[in-house]
Amino acid sequence: MDDDALDTTTPEDERSAFETAQDQQEDVDPRTIPQRLEETPPIGDEIEYPDYSEDDHETWQILVERQMEQLPGRACEAYMRGQDVLQLEAERIPGLAALSRRLNEATGWTVANVPGLIHEKNFFELLADRTFPSTNYVRGRDELDYTPAPDCFHDIFGHMPMLTQPDFADFYQLFGRAALNAEGADRPRLERFHWFTVEFGLIREEGEKRIFGAGIVSSNEEVTHALSDEVTLHSFDPAHIVAKDDYEVYNLQDELFVLDSFEQLVDGFREWTRSRGLL
Ligand SMILES: [Fe+2]
Repeated sequence: MDDDALDTTTPEDERSAFETAQDQQEDVDPRTIPQRLEETPPIGDEIEYPDYSEDDHETWQILVERQMEQLPGRACEAYMRGQDVLQLEAERIPGLAALSRRLNEATGWTVANVPGLIHEKNFFELLADRTFPSTNYVRGRDELDYTPAPDCFHDIFGHMPMLTQPDFADFYQLFGRAALNAEGADRPRLERFHWFTVEFGLIREEGEKRIFGAGIVSSNEEVTHALSDEVTLHSFDPAHIVAKDDYEVYNLQDELFVLDSFEQLVDGFREWTRSRGLL
């Protein structure tokens, strides 16, 4: 049996919230359909710098500058420090090869250049290998607030700074390894875990809640919304997170989980995956 046949026979309770939401949409945006990688993508110094237009650089600049008006005091310390480690600038879209070198120095991660949303097995294999799959194209000017699939603003500005944090970097590799071993209902459970940590995680620092999730730091509206009274907060609890099958994939989040430390993330994840025989 090939993988496609497996995909279509996924039972209802083993489907992710993303798959369910896609089914409920009238027209599926082709950018949200994951592509299977036919060969190993270029990694690190193999990645060429694209011939960006001035318009692309300007879009990047608008996106970075308007997030930077909001992030100081709202994003966690590790995220802000990660921006410095990566030497992110507003003026120009950074090159993936240079980012890969800086990440590698910080935590041993590298960057692979992928064409868009990739098949989950490809995605998990790269993570398990301490390699972050990143796009290199930037969204259109009409999509500043929302784009249904990853672009380099989300991948670079949203995700990469946290990969300079040692505990988070270790956790993300473990995530890839566990996900490769997951079957049946453990797959959507891990997807929820990813959602509420990597994409929409909060952490408490000096008594204040702060953002670290890539989906929040790269979204203009989520930055203030995630820290507002409109959101119900829960303490980080892997068993609670993996049971949450009612989260929003296309709207602002109304429930989020708050870590006490990144150590808690690694320890909690190790414990849960061990209990499921995934690591
Ligand atoms: Fe993401």
